[in-house]
Amino acid sequence: MVKIAPSMLSSDFARLGEEARAAEAAGADYLHLDIMDGRFVPNITFGPDVVAAIRRSCSIPLDTHLMIEEPERYVDAFAKAGASILTVHAEASLHLHRLLCQIREAGCRVGISLNPATPLEMVRHVLSEIDLLLVMTVEPGFGGQSYIEAMTAKIAEARRMLDEYAPHVELEVDGGINARTAPVVVRAGARVLVAGSAVFTHPNGLDGGMEELRASLGLA
Ligand code: DX5
Ligand code: ZN
Repeated sequence: MVKIAPSMLSSDFARLGEEARAAEAAGADYLHLDIMDGRFVPNITFGPDVVAAIRRSCSIPLDTHLMIEEPERYVDAFAKAGASILTVHAEASLHLHRLLCQIREAGCRVGISLNPATPLEMVRHVLSEIDLLLVMTVEPGFGGQSYIEAMTAKIAEARRMLDEYAPHVELEVDGGINARTAPVVVRAGARVLVAGSAVFTHPNGLDGGMEELRASLGLA
């Protein structure tokens, strides 16, 4: 079963509550929230108070993707705000095992994300601590970028690693996912697809974008 997680990064920030409700109504499995600090990535988005406001607007799980330095300083705030899954970048912490335990203790599901150039080997020894592995298929920071084709082999390698050592871990991909790339990443082994611009800025609206994505996967 493939899950779709619309990314609010491409939604209308002036109408976040309505956009979150629309994504839920369109059949989103998770709502993907991109937290950027202007340091780990060049862009800045929003923090825990906005996550809490979105939490009040819909009831699907909040898949919260922290693209921030020193994520350990903010785990409790995002957990309190209502994040369901809290995903941190492996590149952002020297003490990843401790950080993952901190997320678990805060009551969230635990995710790790890897930038395109970061090898999978980085997470091999902490697989037992996580629920979700996020393979970035663009450099994080902005919506609307093109899928990096070399990531297909990385997704397939991640699939093999998880099947062997941690089959319960969800394999998520993020960046440049649309009706053309969705079947490619699912064939390679991805099971949660983040999609921002492909759904929120689709010419036929959010419903049209979700429908086209599902149809590309034979789910419609
Ligand atoms: C990029 C973010 C993504 C972004 C994806 O740094 O992590 O979640 O919203 O946008 P699209 O789907 O437009 O590539
Ligand atoms: Zn993201």
